[in-house]
Amino acid sequence: MSTVIKGGTIVAADRSYEADILIEGETIKAIGPDLKGEKVIDAAGALVMPGGIDPHTHLEMPFMGTTAAETWESGTFAGLSGGTTMVVDFAIPNDKGMLAAFDDWYGRADRSASGDYSFHMCVTGWDERTFDEMETIVGRGINTFKHFMAYKGALMVNDDEMFASFQRCAALGALPLVHAENGDIVAALQQKYMAAGVTGPEGHAYSRPPEVEGEATNRAIMIADAAGVPVYIVHVSCEQAHEAIRRARQKGMRVYGEPLIQHLVLDETEYFNKDWDYAARRVMSPPFRDKSHQDSLWAGLAAGSLQIVATDHCSFTTEQKRFGLGNFTKIPNGTGGIEDRMPVLWTKGVETGRLTENEFVAVTSTNIAKALNIYPRKGAIVPGADADLVVWDPKLSKTISAASQKSIIDYNVFEGVQVSGLPRYTLSRGEVVWSDGQNSTPQPGRGKFIPRKPFPAVNKAVSKWKELTAPRAVTRSPEHMPIGV
Ligand code: URP
Ligand code: ZN
Ligand code: ZN
Ligand code: ZN
Repeated sequence: MSTVIKGGTIVAADRSYEADILIEGETIKAIGPDLKGEKVIDAAGALVMPGGIDPHTHLEMPFMGTTAAETWESGTFAGLSGGTTMVVDFAIPNDKGMLAAFDDWYGRADRSASGDYSFHMCVTGWDERTFDEMETIVGRGINTFKHFMAYKGALMVNDDEMFASFQRCAALGALPLVHAENGDIVAALQQKYMAAGVTGPEGHAYSRPPEVEGEATNRAIMIADAAGVPVYIVHVSCEQAHEAIRRARQKGMRVYGEPLIQHLVLDETEYFNKDWDYAARRVMSPPFRDKSHQDSLWAGLAAGSLQIVATDHCSFTTEQKRFGLGNFTKIPNGTGGIEDRMPVLWTKGVETGRLTENEFVAVTSTNIAKALNIYPRKGAIVPGADADLVVWDPKLSKTISAASQKSIIDYNVFEGVQVSGLPRYTLSRGEVVWSDGQNSTPQPGRGKFIPRKPFPAVNKAVSKWKELTAPRAVTRSPEHMPIGV
């Protein structure tokens, strides 16, 4: 069965041009004028872009005494409806180890995902088993390891553990990811505000000021430099963290920065809302910031110092958020966005002139595929690539509302936001899986695990330079040595 996408403008990360796309089976066969296929998809007046990749989700994540309510089934389908054709989720080993975590995550995703997926493996401590398992995990097609500098007493790792793991990543050709917040200071500030009687969701924001993120970001970057490995900083929310990344990149360090769509458009006044539920639903780490930080994040995307827009989709119901009534430190941390990332970024970014349409494709798909080493199978419109495509209609519009969303959560942090720019069709490996106004439904089990090989180039370059410039012992001939001692 062949399909042709006809009459659209292809928007890639590097250029826009008019052409049809011929799909055979699951992949792109040809790109050019006047192509013919058995089935025709109308793209007149629309833009055809590579499917979005969300590199940061937590579907069904066990966290803070509960489990994120968004499932693999609802979450991946919500993603498809918003133009996201692949997610990368975080597998957490706990005591069972990385191999058990891999099997766990793989089992759930394999049964339930409608779109393609991969995993990052979390490093939550350091011992010989972790050292050994990391290699096996790389062999299973995972090339990224996540480190939490926050969540003291739970997921947090210390500097020595992080340094050991980063060196192991360097040796395996893997990329470390970091949640950068100073967990010791956060824990102390949480106690301080609770003791002062600040028990509501605003205490969450007060206890995680931008400085603790800036400090940790800088520290993670310096540890990566010492280990001779590139590093990827997740959910960059503020100027202080962006500044550390910018500075490092200007010094030639290989650092990726990932702001979230939430931090680009929502600000900390959300936590001051008089309605407890409203404020608690927006509790995530790092918290939403003063509006002034948004300009920094948008500028970073335009300048290239930040390259990726994600969601950190980790959605809890209102009932779950209420575990933290009377104690903000117990409100499960996380917000959603998988369905809305692309339309909101298009509306607030491209429609305002902050981003070009090509930059939009870069930060939602192409840069991510490159950073995670699945390019050009994903993130590109070229012959041979998976036919993960979005027929994007800039004229389609809606008002975001929990009442009509695909996500199964009872609220939406973007409630009431008007978006223009939505998928007319979303294709996953050649099949139309979302069609505007056509009652599309989830196809659990349709999604495939996409293996990711170790990094061929960047890690090699960084470690070669590290080796060439490494400190060496000074050779001294006998006549330059003290005599008679
Ligand atoms: O609040 C958040 N971000 N929850 C998900 C876990 C994490 O830190 O990424
Ligand atoms: Zn995090
Ligand atoms: Zn996260
Ligand atoms: Zn001499």
